[in-house]
Amino acid sequence: MRLILLGPPGAGKGTQASAIVKRYDIPHISTGDIFRENIKKGTELGLKAKSYMDKGLLVPDDLVISIVKNRLLEDDCKKGFLLDGFPRTLSQGEALDEVLKDMGLELTRVINIDVEKEVLIERAIGRRVCKECGATYHIKFSPPKEEDVCDKCGGRLFQRDDDTKETIEKRIQVYTEQTKPLIDYYTKKGLILNIDGSKSIESIFQDIVDSLEA
Ligand code: AP5
Ligand code: MG
Ligand code: ZN
Repeated sequence: MRLILLGPPGAGKGTQASAIVKRYDIPHISTGDIFRENIKKGTELGLKAKSYMDKGLLVPDDLVISIVKNRLLEDDCKKGFLLDGFPRTLSQGEALDEVLKDMGLELTRVINIDVEKEVLIERAIGRRVCKECGATYHIKFSPPKEEDVCDKCGGRLFQRDDDTKETIEKRIQVYTEQTKPLIDYYTKKGLILNIDGSKSIESIFQDIVDSLEA
């Protein structure tokens, strides 16, 4: 399976990605996670990316594309992959086509998770992430057993710097202007799988699996 997860900020891409990669035993490639990892380590890439992320803007295409290109060449991607949050612009989509063509590969499906704006804001504002293992929670929709403590590893939970109401609204605007055109791009290629993201986490996952295996 060579999959892309497309959808606005807070739609549930990361949440569904964890379950999808487990089921199909493929690597989860999230460009947002790669940037956050670099910010944590204080790398030059992290420093550059942070200045865009904190404002809710996209990191420049050339930076993102070279990272994904190198990642796809790693051995574990031979069995397939799930891209989460990439591509995010038409030029990233075209660059990905080139890379895959050079590798002699084709995409299997592009999963497009759609959710209305009010729900996105509520999901993002209430999100909490584990500092240690990256597990994602929501204070209302999927709370941890003990407040601010990860069920899986006991790590502390934190709120992402870009999960303020103001930055989320900016991210949604950027998504609408720069990322949404990709829906059309992949629809024309016959690859889009539209998924209603307003349901529960479990029923969305079931819908994705049913459509992929239909
Ligand atoms: P990135 O980390 O990719 O953020 P995003 O796309 O804005 O998406 P999110 O991670 O916020 O949301 P999600 O869809 O993963 O939702 P989640 O599953 O966590 O990117 C961050 C930044 O990095 C960008 O702004 C940009 O600056 C930069 N960047 C990254 N990739 C780039 C690229 N390719 N090009 C340029 N720049 C790039 O769920 C959200 C919450 O809702 C959680 O609390 C969860 O528990 C809850 N939830 C999930 N599903 C449900 C459900 N069905 N019902 C109820 N609650 C739910
Ligand atoms: Mg995410
Ligand atoms: Zn944890």
